[in-house]
Amino acid sequence: MSAAARPPEGGARVPLGGTREAEGAPVNAAFFEARGLGLSFGGVKAVRDVSFNVEQGEVLAIIGPNGAGKTSLLNLATRVFDPSKGSVHFEGRDITRVPRHDIVRHGIARTFQNIELFEGATVLENLLLGRHRAGHGNLLGQMLNLPSVQRAEAQTRARVEDVVRLLDLAPVRNRPVAELPYGVRKVVELARALASEPRLLLLDEPASGLNPDETRQLACWIADIQAELGITVVMVEHDMSLVSSVAQRVVVMDQGSVLMIGKPAEVQSDARVISAYLGA
Ligand SMILES: Nc1ncnc2c1ncn2[C@@H]1O[C@H](COP(=O)(O)OP(=O)(O)O)[C@@H](O)[C@H]1O
Ligand SMILES: [Mg+2]
Repeated sequence: MSAAARPPEGGARVPLGGTREAEGAPVNAAFFEARGLGLSFGGVKAVRDVSFNVEQGEVLAIIGPNGAGKTSLLNLATRVFDPSKGSVHFEGRDITRVPRHDIVRHGIARTFQNIELFEGATVLENLLLGRHRAGHGNLLGQMLNLPSVQRAEAQTRARVEDVVRLLDLAPVRNRPVAELPYGVRKVVELARALASEPRLLLLDEPASGLNPDETRQLACWIADIQAELGITVVMVEHDMSLVSSVAQRVVVMDQGSVLMIGKPAEVQSDARVISAYLGA
């Protein structure tokens, strides 16, 4: 059986809310699916024939040595690059050709390996921008001060306040991002992604550069995002203790290909995975 055709494994929890059935989606469609994806940069094959499913409600980790193609996969899922082969499906829709700026409106949000925030803007401003990009804001309506827009604006504020509370950002809400320590900027980036109310959240090395206390806190938040907000998470991460504590399944990448898919304990004890990491 191919990796893509495997049934769901692990204890994915049933989401409590924040999900939406896609109209017209085939009943058996995977929540998210990469089908035979390929991506080349000149002669470098960054991604080779990669297929995997993400089940609704799970936390799926993607691990692998540097250069394995993990970030490239997230870039294909969020339309930063066109795949040279294959397709990407979300909630039963083929999103392979959706314009990059529309991805967030489709319910997918991400963070970046190198934090991407508006450094001169405050924490709240960054979160509000996350909302507007997701199509929750309407600038013309705001100028006309329409009641429907006032309601939407109140909803936006309420959602942003929820995220600020969830991620303990109240003390820094009005501070410019550039003034904040690295660990806090990483949390702001996570908050900005959550402010858009995604149904799928993609995180690129969320724990890199964090100290052990910050990493433990991040693990709690990812568990809350899954259990309380009902958001499905795909997380590229090197920290195996974080992966083991929050992920139900792990996709192991090596040299652009999927080496194996399994539960955290299975991949950690797999000889192929160990040798990929040791370069043997
Ligand atoms: N924009 C790019 N231009 C050229 N080569 C790239 C680009 N992005 C990634 N690559 C190459 O693709 C391969 C996979 O990179 P990447 O997806 O960043 O790996 P990972 O995130 O697993 O460390 C590497 O060989 C890398 O040098
Ligand atoms: Mg990377």
